[in-house]
Amino acid sequence: MSRQWKPSFCSMDPQVDEDHRALFRLLDRLATHRRESDIEDLNPLLDELMEYTFVHFAREEGAMKARNYPRLANHSEQHQVMRKALIESLRQVAKGNLVIPVFIQHIKDSFSYHFETDDMTFVTWQRQHQVKASDRDSAVPVGP
Ligand SMILES: [Fe+2]
Ligand SMILES: [Fe+2]
Repeated sequence: MSRQWKPSFCSMDPQVDEDHRALFRLLDRLATHRRESDIEDLNPLLDELMEYTFVHFAREEGAMKARNYPRLANHSEQHQVMRKALIESLRQVAKGNLVIPVFIQHIKDSFSYHFETDDMTFVTWQRQHQVKASDRDSAVPVGP
C-alpha cells in the first residue's frame, strides 16, 4: 500500500485514525520481508497484524454504532470476510501453498481497497452528518 497519511483521511474519531496510521506502517514493515528467509522476522509482524486488525475492526464498528451509522451491518460483514480471508491466507502460507510475496501483496491490496471504499464511505458520512448536526445546533429557534 505504501501510502502517506493525508488530512482528508481523518474521521471524527482520533483512535480509529491512529489505528489506520498504525496499520499502514505495519503493512509497510511487512512489505520489507518478502523473502522466504525472512520468515523468522515475519512471524511476530504477522501476529501483530492479526491482533491489531481485529482490535481495529471492533473499535471501528464501535465508533459506527455510537454514531448510528446506517451501513454498520454491511461494514461489519466486510470486516468478517476480511478476518476469514486473513486467517485462511495465513493457513495457506503455513501449508506452503501460498508464497510470502503473494500473501503480502494480497493483504496490502485487500486492506487498501477496504480503506479506500468502505472506511472512506464512513469518513464521508461522518463529515456530512457532523455538518447537518452543526446546522441544526446553530439554527435559530422559532419562538412563540
Ligand atoms: Fe473498516
Ligand atoms: Fe478501518
